[in-house]
Amino acid sequence: MKTIIEPFKIKVVEPIRMTTREEREIILREAKFNVFNIHSSHVLIDLLTDSGTSAMSSLQWSAIMRGDEAYAGAESFFHFQRTLRELTGFDHILPTHQGRASERILFELVGGKGKVIPNNNHFDTTRANVEHSGAEAIDLVIDEGKIPSSRHPFKGNIDIKKLVALIERVGTEHIPLCMVTVTNNSGGGQPVSLENLRAVRKVCDQYQIPLFLDACRFAENAYFIKLREPGYQNISVRKIVHEMFDLADGATISAKKDGLVNIGGVLLLRDEELAQRADALLILTEGFVTYGGLAGRDLEAMAQGFQEVVEEDYLEYRIRSTAYLGERLIKIGYPIVEPPGGHAIYIDAGQLCPHIPPKEFPGQALVCALYRAGWIRAVEIGTLMFGGEGKIAPLELVRLAIPRRVYTQSHIDYVVEVCEELYDNRSQFAGLRLTNNPPFLRHFTAAFAELN
Ligand code: F0G
Repeated sequence: MKTIIEPFKIKVVEPIRMTTREEREIILREAKFNVFNIHSSHVLIDLLTDSGTSAMSSLQWSAIMRGDEAYAGAESFFHFQRTLRELTGFDHILPTHQGRASERILFELVGGKGKVIPNNNHFDTTRANVEHSGAEAIDLVIDEGKIPSSRHPFKGNIDIKKLVALIERVGTEHIPLCMVTVTNNSGGGQPVSLENLRAVRKVCDQYQIPLFLDACRFAENAYFIKLREPGYQNISVRKIVHEMFDLADGATISAKKDGLVNIGGVLLLRDEELAQRADALLILTEGFVTYGGLAGRDLEAMAQGFQEVVEEDYLEYRIRSTAYLGERLIKIGYPIVEPPGGHAIYIDAGQLCPHIPPKEFPGQALVCALYRAGWIRAVEIGTLMFGGEGKIAPLELVRLAIPRRVYTQSHIDYVVEVCEELYDNRSQFAGLRLTNNPPFLRHFTAAFAELN
């Protein structure tokens, strides 16, 4: 087998700059050990997120020039609408400025006090929007999904028994919808099988609960289905994508992931009455229904991006290059969430640094170490992100998210070399103490001091 290469050549470049260890030390201290406070020009390899960080194609950039900026009825909207209809089969397609805007509209309409939303794992903004509406967000991923070393092929699946038990316990009248996140970001970028989606659908039908997808990474999920689910090896990704959406009554999408754009979101709905109410909220808070908080050119870039993301040579490269980083880290000895996910590698910092208790944020300690040693920016997904008020997260993970079509294999080889150097010094990483602890989504604005 030959090397799976980046299926593109580079036309525009953006320089990145090396720095000294002393400079990095000053920057990290000034940022109060929170990498969200660091200027991106002070980062060499930015693995903070795969969201909004994609490189757009020449076709997307040329589509931008076709943007119709009319307030109402812009042709760019109809192009965007046709593309999404073809891809997903949904009729009601609302553009929003990003995923959480779709979430806010949805949960303002269906959430509220006394309501309960099941999901495999809510992403942080999804949970925050559910809770902001007054509702309760419950995570029901299968047990294997919580064990980093388990190599279950679909670790993002929902535990059907737990879903039924929850519905029986709280009553269907309190569950306005059931959500499934594909791929499961908070659970390690792990896919959900079509078999599991069908089983969730069956339960939802039985109890008459609508099923919604958080479909930010639908194409990566579909490619995992093609690779791993029996019977799908010769089915096209486009067909698998359609099959996933056919099972749902609605979906929230951040186009900043598999839309291959820097900004944009979508809300998909089937129910006519709900769609009308969503349109009204969209107009109130995002913009008219044919632009929803975006420029016409953004809609054109999305329409093109949603087509490119289901190209199979792109997906083969995408999934393979993420796995490459994961496999090299495993070889060094890093405990990671296995098998490697679609958009990111998640290092189990709790296991890597047993000398740092969760309340001293072992994940954040590794994030700081990566920055110091290699000017690499990663993000903590553990007690900092999901804890608070004495609550500790089930896992102390650090995510190395890979922007789409941005870094080449040599960039990733450099990341591996930095990780190799750090591995031997891991017992020296210092825990952290919070000096500012905000009440919501605290990881974005928290401040720390280093212990010892
Ligand atoms: N749902 C999932 C599964 C996500 O991963 C994200 C964003 C959102 C919803 C919200 O979308 O950012 O466009 O408002 N995830 C980014 C990340 C921020 O880094 O994983 P958004």
